Amino acid sequence: MTTILKLENYKVYYETPNGYVRAVDGVNLEVEKGEILGLIGESGCGKSTLVMSLVLPKPPMKIMGGRALLGKIDLTKLSWDERRKILLTKLSIIPQYALDALPVIKKIGAFLSDLAKDKNIPEDQVIEKFIERIKLVGLPTNVIDMYPLELSGGMRQRVIIALSTIFSPDLLIADEPTSALDVSTQRQVLELLRNLRDTGIVKSIIFVTHDIASVRQIADRIAVMYAGKIVEISSVEEIIKNPLHPYTQGLIRAVPVLGINYKKKRLSGLPGQPPNLLNPPSGCRFYPRCKYATPKCIKEEPPSVNINSRIVSCWLYVKEVPKK
Ligand SMILES: Nc1ncnc2c1ncn2[C@@H]1O[C@H](COP(=O)(O)OP(=O)(O)OP(=O)(O)O)[C@@H](O)[C@H]1O
Ligand SMILES: [Mg+2]
Repeated sequence: MTTILKLENYKVYYETPNGYVRAVDGVNLEVEKGEILGLIGESGCGKSTLVMSLVLPKPPMKIMGGRALLGKIDLTKLSWDERRKILLTKLSIIPQYALDALPVIKKIGAFLSDLAKDKNIPEDQVIEKFIERIKLVGLPTNVIDMYPLELSGGMRQRVIIALSTIFSPDLLIADEPTSALDVSTQRQVLELLRNLRDTGIVKSIIFVTHDIASVRQIADRIAVMYAGKIVEISSVEEIIKNPLHPYTQGLIRAVPVLGINYKKKRLSGLPGQPPNLLNPPSGCRFYPRCKYATPKCIKEEPPSVNINSRIVSCWLYVKEVPKK
């Protein structure tokens, strides 16, 4: 299998007057060619920091260590010029809140002129590529003459998808691309993203969300993030059927199941709050909310263990080596 992206002990902090916010703290993760990897976790766990830092790490964000290999390129070592060259061609992102960030008073065509200048490519070539994409995402070609203001949320998200994949990047990152959309538009956008992967326009996708329902519709594997760390990585089926990490178990149980009367059976969500990342707990970051926590969990961080190709970081799954 070819690996498109490999993160090794990757750390990204925010520098603040009160100290470092340890938003991404020692992440190991691989994205394979052809896969859609879902990245899921509660608000504030570091999902956007992780993906944004790969594309545009800018202050107060600071890469504190590790490697982020996109093929042979270490993204942590790139200059701004080198980074700009690979943006859209090898690596592309649909940022969280992109729908609101699109300047409303600029025609879509004007974005294409900017893009052509920036990439030093003749404008008609860029327009030709864009028209190819715009047909693929199911929009009329006259959107080029329209302002984002004239488009519905779903149409705007399709334009953003067309723009972000215009040069067929190896890896597309989509950060909460469906959160602001209604349910039927959400489904169409998920299908569209899957189609981009199926037709090879992009090789792989990282799909970021806090919503299990949408991630299970699109992803092949899921990485679960908690307080700056990846706590579990498994296939979608396995994670839904048999979550290993106590945090994943809580996340899955917090999702209502059709046909259950919740007046009789209470939603067993996750009690408590995630930790403050300025001063995270020692040992396992989940121990203050974990019903299985032992003194060892408070003192020592659990290693990642591989169980039948699943990865989990929890002392429950670490076999004690018998003393001789
Ligand atoms: N500019 C900043 N300065 C300091 N801390 C920040 C900054 N931006 C984010 N953080 C902190 O970094 C942590 C991770 O935030 P991040 O936005 O990556 O989370 P997220 O998982 O994407 O959340 P959401 O689901 O709400 O989008 C949070 O504790 C957040 O408060
Ligand atoms: Mg986010």
